[in-house]
Amino acid sequence: MLIAVANQKGGVAKTTSVICLGGLLAERANCLAIDLDPQGNLTTGLGVELASDQISCYDVITEQASALDAIVSTRSGLSLLPADITLASGETEILTKVGNFYLLKECLEPVLSQFPYILIDCPPSLGLLTVNALAAADAVLIPVQCQFFALKGLASLLETIGSVQKRLNRNLQILGVLPTMAESNTLMTQDVLASIKKRLPSVTIFDPVPKSIKFSESNLAGEPIHLYTKETKLVQPYKAIANLITNI
Ligand SMILES: Nc1ncnc2c1ncn2[C@@H]1O[C@H](COP(=O)(O)OP(=O)(O)OP(=O)(O)O)[C@@H](O)[C@H]1O
Ligand SMILES: [Mg+2]
Repeated sequence: MLIAVANQKGGVAKTTSVICLGGLLAERANCLAIDLDPQGNLTTGLGVELASDQISCYDVITEQASALDAIVSTRSGLSLLPADITLASGETEILTKVGNFYLLKECLEPVLSQFPYILIDCPPSLGLLTVNALAAADAVLIPVQCQFFALKGLASLLETIGSVQKRLNRNLQILGVLPTMAESNTLMTQDVLASIKKRLPSVTIFDPVPKSIKFSESNLAGEPIHLYTKETKLVQPYKAIANLITNI
C-alpha cells in the first residue's frame, strides 16, 4: 500500500505524520518512507545526514540510480529513500521529460515487493513532485492544521487530486483528512473540525492529533512519537490510522 501524505500548505505536520505513522507500520512489516521534499526534513527528522556523494531521491527521479541503491535504514526501524536540496533541481530537470508524471511510479516498481507499506512525504506545493506522488499512490492522507485559514488551500488540493484520478491514476483514493495540532478546548479547533466535516461529508476525518511540544522534541530526537512518549492521547490518532492501513 503506497500512501502519499500531501497538503500544499506548509507546516501542517506532513513530515511528522510520515515519521509517526511510518514508525508504527515498521513494527508490523517493512515500511519505506520516501522524502520527496527538497527541504529534506524527513531525512533529517529520521536522524540521517546525507553525504554529498550519497545516492538520493534526486538521482532516482532523474533516472541516474535505482531506488534500491538509495534506500538506507534508520534507527526507528523505518527504511528511508532520502533527499536533500538537490531534489529541487531534479524537479526542474524532469520538466521536459516525456511521461514525467509517472517517473516516481516507475522508479518504485523494483521496491514494491520488498515493502508492503510505503509512505511519501510530499513538499508544500502542488508541483510536479506532488503530482508524481499522487500518480504513484494508492491513497492520499491529508493532514490539516487546526488553525485559521486551514481550509483555504484544501479546494485546490482536492481539485488536483480529482484531476489525477481522472487523467493519471484512477485507483487513487482519499484515505482521509487528519486534523493536526488540535487544541480541544479552543473555539478555533472546534470551528476547523466542524468546517472540514461540512465541506467533506463523504471523506473520513480521523481523530485529531493534539498540539504538543513532544512532537517537535521527538522530531529532534529522530524518533516516531510512540518511541518518544507513552502518552496515549498523542500516539492513539496515529495508531488508529496504522490499524486501518494494516487491515485494508
Ligand atoms: N501535533 C503537533 N503538535 C505540535 N507541534 C507539531 C505537531 N505536529 C507537528 N508539529 C511541529 O510543527 C512543525 C511543522 O511540522 P512538519 O514539519 O511535520 O510539517 P510539514 O507539513 O511537513 O511542513 P512542510 O510543509 O514545511 O514540509 C514542526 O516543528 C513539528 O515538530
Ligand atoms: Mg515536511
